[in-house]
Amino acid sequence: MNDRSFAAGERLVAGAYLRQGREARRAHEQLLRSLLEKGKCPEDGWDESTIELFLHELAIMDSNNFLGNCGVGEREGRVVSGLVARRHFRLIHGIGRSGDIAAVQPKAAGSSLLNKITNSVVLDILKHAGVRSVASCFVVPMATGMSLTLCFLTLRHRRPKAKYIIWPRIDQKSCFKSMIAAGFEPVVIENELEGDELRTDLKAVETKIQELGAENILCLHSTTSCFAPRVPDRLEELAVICANYDIPHIVNNAYGVQSSKCMHLIQQGARVGRIDAFVQSLDKNFLVPVGGAVIAGFSDAFIQEISKMYPGRASASPSLDVFITLLSLGLRGYNRLLKERKEMFSYLSRELKKLSEVYHERLLNTPHNPISLAMSLQTLGSHSDTAVTQLGSMLFTRQVSGARVVPLGSVQTVNGYTFKGFMSHSSNYPCAYLNVASAIGMSKRDVDLFLKRLDRCFKAFSKEKSKENNDPEVKINEATDEKLEEMVLKMGDVDLGGHKDESS
Ligand SMILES: Cc1ncc(COP(=O)(O)O)c(C=O)c1O
Repeated sequence: MNDRSFAAGERLVAGAYLRQGREARRAHEQLLRSLLEKGKCPEDGWDESTIELFLHELAIMDSNNFLGNCGVGEREGRVVSGLVARRHFRLIHGIGRSGDIAAVQPKAAGSSLLNKITNSVVLDILKHAGVRSVASCFVVPMATGMSLTLCFLTLRHRRPKAKYIIWPRIDQKSCFKSMIAAGFEPVVIENELEGDELRTDLKAVETKIQELGAENILCLHSTTSCFAPRVPDRLEELAVICANYDIPHIVNNAYGVQSSKCMHLIQQGARVGRIDAFVQSLDKNFLVPVGGAVIAGFSDAFIQEISKMYPGRASASPSLDVFITLLSLGLRGYNRLLKERKEMFSYLSRELKKLSEVYHERLLNTPHNPISLAMSLQTLGSHSDTAVTQLGSMLFTRQVSGARVVPLGSVQTVNGYTFKGFMSHSSNYPCAYLNVASAIGMSKRDVDLFLKRLDRCFKAFSKEKSKENNDPEVKINEATDEKLEEMVLKMGDVDLGGHKDESS
């Protein structure tokens, strides 16, 4: 309502009351103005009514919501279901224009503003999370793997001769496929075993560059967040190598925004050497549905080049989700989540260490990994790989999600490339193990329940081993569990330790 509407309202309701209502409304508007002026994540989270007010204001600036609009084009933002319209806050036009995902859409001033302000707020968050000198970023409605592909495709134009991507091994299929999808040949660099940790083999990276010739290499593709016992790549040293050989450097920071260590590595890498872009998932860092990623970098020109590579317009949903989430949390709320995650990591490592010792196993010593932990399954693994995989399915049937068991010697072929010891980031890691992660949003209840269920699984194994239990009731329960576990094993979920050749 504007001044004239309020004046008109005074004919119906006493002026004093209306003035108070107007002041209350002004408080919401001040928040909107401050956000647009500063382009930063607000210190304190907004209440839902302010967020809804802002989204509504944005939506009525788009042509599909104009009262007198007559659309005669082929893309007029027509939506037949009211439910769908409401699901998107009536922001139907998406983001970008044909040819540039960051461009302003003339028909949709509101959606365009949403896109710009979201990118600005996310950039602010990346700075606060530790990459102080990040220059530019944009939210892209594709998950991490495809966003990496977009970066590689952009580099293709800069390095027409190049056909290889140097890649310190990480056993996660999307990472590998992101390079294949872009039409490049990944050159896998095996990791070095240092104590329990798997770390970047810098010498092997440099030798490979010299062997292939820098001009034939599209880029180096490194990784921060990963499953232990692999630890984040030695980013500083890799960045220096990239600067020395003039090779672009793309960092997969899939769930690294939540870790100050991962963000610090990126900041340092860019300070001492070369990092062209770093990519992070929206769902894994910002507690939103799967579907988006953030592509960020230290040169605005390069980040714009990537956004121009995206063909056509794009869904605004991932931007909308992260925008609403960050406004709801505010900087304080997001920082609180980061702090809780760190505390949960310490708690989980402490308790997992205790539990592992009870069963003559050990928490692998991986101090460079700030998110993921690994517990040896030496005793289990010494019986058979099936026992290790069975533990995975037992946990799954007990509703533990996200834990992955890694048996020894599993072989997997991905796009024609055979990985020995797949899932373990190494051809010959010395022992089988179990992985868990302390990721953003994890609660103490999650940790406690997991430990309790893991304890029960180990107990069940010990019982089976001793074969002393003849109680018929226990046997019936065990039989039911076994059936379920058999089903899960047949599903062959990767979390349970995949043995399958992808082509089969
Ligand atoms: C290190 C790493 N990179 C990439 C990905 C793939 O992410 P997305 O599914 O968002 O493409 C994952 C998924 O968990 C991951 O752990």
